[in-house]
Amino acid sequence: MPRSAVLLSCFFGVLAIASAGSQQRLRSSAFAVPGTNVSYDYVVVGGGTAGLTIASRLAEWASVAVIEAGGIYEFDNGNLSVVPSGVMGMSFLGTAENTPKQPLMDWGLISAPQSGAGNQRIRYAQGKTLGGSSAINTGGYHRGTAGAYQRWADVVGDQSYTFSNLLPYFKKSCHLTPPNLEKRNTPNTTVIFDPTAKVFDNSLGGVLQVSWANWVDPTTTWLALGLKAIGLPLSIVGFSSGILSGYSAWIPTTISPRHATRSSSESSYLKQSIERTQIMIYLHTQALRILFDSDRPGRANAVAVSTQGLEYTISANKEVIISTGVFHSPQLLMVSGIGPRVTLEAHGIPVIANLPGVGQNLQDELSFLVLNEVNTPSGGAIIANPENTASILKEYLEDAKGPMSSVGVLMSFEKIPPELRQNFTEKTKSALDSLPADWPEVEYLAAAVSGPNFTSIASISPILTAPLSRGNVTITSSSMADPPVIDMGWLTDPADAEVAVAAIKRCRQAWASDALQPIKVGSEILPGEAVSTDEEIVDYLRQTAAPIWHASATCAMGKLGDVHAVVDSKARVFGVERLRVVDASSFPFALPGHPQASVYAFAEKIADDIKNGR
Ligand SMILES: Cc1cc2nc3c(=O)[nH]c(=O)nc-3n(C[C@H](O)[C@H](O)[C@H](O)COP(=O)(O)OP(=O)(O)OC[C@H]3O[C@@H](n4cnc5c(N)ncnc54)[C@H](O)[C@@H]3O)c2cc1C
Ligand SMILES: *[C@@H]1O[C@H](CO)[C@@H](O)[C@H](O)[C@H]1NC(C)=O
Ligand SMILES: *[C@@H]1O[C@H](CO)[C@@H](O)[C@H](O)[C@H]1NC(C)=O
Ligand SMILES: *[C@@H]1O[C@H](CO)[C@@H](O)[C@H](O)[C@H]1NC(C)=O
Ligand SMILES: *[C@@H]1O[C@H](CO)[C@@H](O)[C@H](O)[C@H]1NC(C)=O
Ligand SMILES: *[C@@H]1O[C@H](CO)[C@@H](O)[C@H](O)[C@H]1NC(C)=O
Ligand SMILES: *[C@@H]1O[C@H](CO)[C@@H](O)[C@H](O)[C@H]1NC(C)=O
Repeated sequence: MPRSAVLLSCFFGVLAIASAGSQQRLRSSAFAVPGTNVSYDYVVVGGGTAGLTIASRLAEWASVAVIEAGGIYEFDNGNLSVVPSGVMGMSFLGTAENTPKQPLMDWGLISAPQSGAGNQRIRYAQGKTLGGSSAINTGGYHRGTAGAYQRWADVVGDQSYTFSNLLPYFKKSCHLTPPNLEKRNTPNTTVIFDPTAKVFDNSLGGVLQVSWANWVDPTTTWLALGLKAIGLPLSIVGFSSGILSGYSAWIPTTISPRHATRSSSESSYLKQSIERTQIMIYLHTQALRILFDSDRPGRANAVAVSTQGLEYTISANKEVIISTGVFHSPQLLMVSGIGPRVTLEAHGIPVIANLPGVGQNLQDELSFLVLNEVNTPSGGAIIANPENTASILKEYLEDAKGPMSSVGVLMSFEKIPPELRQNFTEKTKSALDSLPADWPEVEYLAAAVSGPNFTSIASISPILTAPLSRGNVTITSSSMADPPVIDMGWLTDPADAEVAVAAIKRCRQAWASDALQPIKVGSEILPGEAVSTDEEIVDYLRQTAAPIWHASATCAMGKLGDVHAVVDSKARVFGVERLRVVDASSFPFALPGHPQASVYAFAEKIADDIKNGR
């Protein structure tokens, strides 16, 4: 397939200039000219976290097009998506319904009223740019538990999903840099880093950069002591070895350590792929529908797309791979005729495959706040104070260190300890007991932000990592131009509120520990002393529940015949041919904790399956 002419003189072009020496012109471009019907071996829909990973791997040996609705974040979001502390400046990540939109970066999705959570309508950020949500996330890198992956393997009937069998893909996806002890400001935050630990392997040439930030928030060093006091000491192996419960860790982040810049699927996988392969990117191009062979109904062969209103068709000689994320992947399946029959018929969509699970089974970890003022410095307060601007900028630009170089937080995971489980109903106990023994029920995230007058507000706050509530995604029309309807179903299963109440009590125990008394100032900010009975805590939880953006499993992987199963263990959509879904939507369930490491490894795995003819 011939390479299209240069369309955009973008920063990738600038890279080409650099390698072309003094010749100040673009060598070639990986960006397609829109409007022409062209065929490729593989068409990957969605240039996000999973999409750019799988597309880059397939492009090593096949012709590949990527269809991405957004643009290039380095242009569209200034340096906010590049500088680690820029996350704090991305105001479009707000979760209130009226948060101002940033349509060049984010889909601006708003949930249905959450009946279990005060009828809040939540703004739920999702990256709309090359890199997808890896271009706007907070970069925390860790893996799930061995028991969780074993459950994945068992649920889908394929032992290639155990932690030890996935490990080669985790390794292949990233490059780990040890902590830089000269630059790191806090000698008291020992990162136990064992380069011989057999869970990373830089010799495999992985490109996603994973490193420990060159700066640790001094307040979090204290919060670690509070978590230790309630039984969560620092892990000696970190959180990438398949063990989470019972420990805290200074986790690494997806930051390129050289200049302390964001490592996204775009700046890692795609950049390398553009240099080495013929990958072709369609920017600002939205997939409208998957198209099927007229002679072989159910055989996917193309994607109808629109580049800012210009409609055309991109064909796939081999397969179409959908990687449009947890909300748009089920929507794209449904508007293309794959989903619950009643939903499709209600919108006049001809049924290609009746799959009742499409859009169901949405699992979303949710978070709550427990905040106190503290007397220690914090990154947020240092950055907010204009007196520091010049010095911290200099530190960052010249040395890739200081508060701007870091989004580092401390994470801890556990199952709620026995004394706080006493009030759980039998139903809740038995539901939680059915999870693997190493699967944590809660995560505590320790972090700090700026308060008034550059004081520090610190947070030891819970996230539910085994939510039992289920939500769904559906459609209001047959058009991708209309947003999907998202109902996270937060706190609709009573068990989640029981666990969350216990988790708030655990955070308060940490705050009440002797270790934190030297830094605590005044009385609790949130929930506040007035919130004390279990009923008051539940009310607080419902009014203030917030996303941590880990929604998963809306096109769930499973065994043929399972009511919710949408794809098989090779991510192939049931009932049709030559169509896969590869992203957080095709996880069988939400994994405990932060999912990006698993999204990358999963995309690597399916790329390998495809290469090997599976
Ligand atoms: C604010 C935020 C913070 C987070 N923090 C962390 C963290 O610290 N650690 C962690 O592990 N995880 C974190 N996550 C979660 C993690 O980033 C996501 O789970 C992961 O990136 C999802 O990858 P994906 O491939 O499923 O979807 P995405 O990366 O979102 O990719 C989907 C892509 O498809 C494109 N697309 C959608 N519809 C269409 C269409 N019709 N046509 C063409 N293109 C389309 C989108 O524009 C996007 O580029 C965070 C997420 C968010 C939003
Ligand atoms: C980011 O860009 C803004 C201008 O938009 C500038 O003021 C700031 O110094 C930049 N920060 C860094 C770290 O480059
Ligand atoms: C850890 O070291 C940093 C930097 O010296 C300091 O600000 C912080 O207070 C220390 N934390 C504890 C718990 O002593
Ligand atoms: C592109 O393909 C579509 C669908 O197959 C067709 O309707 C259209 O005419 C084609 N356009 C061109 C320019 O060939
Ligand atoms: C159990 O519930 C009662 C009534 O709400 C409450 O007073 C008590 O503190 C709870 N016990 C625990 C361990 O949470
Ligand atoms: C901030 O500091 C100023 C000056 O010291 C003081 O007048 C003001 O009340 C403080 N504001 C808050 C919110 O503490
Ligand atoms: C989604 O879930 C809500 C709440 O459980 C339910 O009322 C609604 O019918 C569901 N919608 C679909 C399409 O499944």
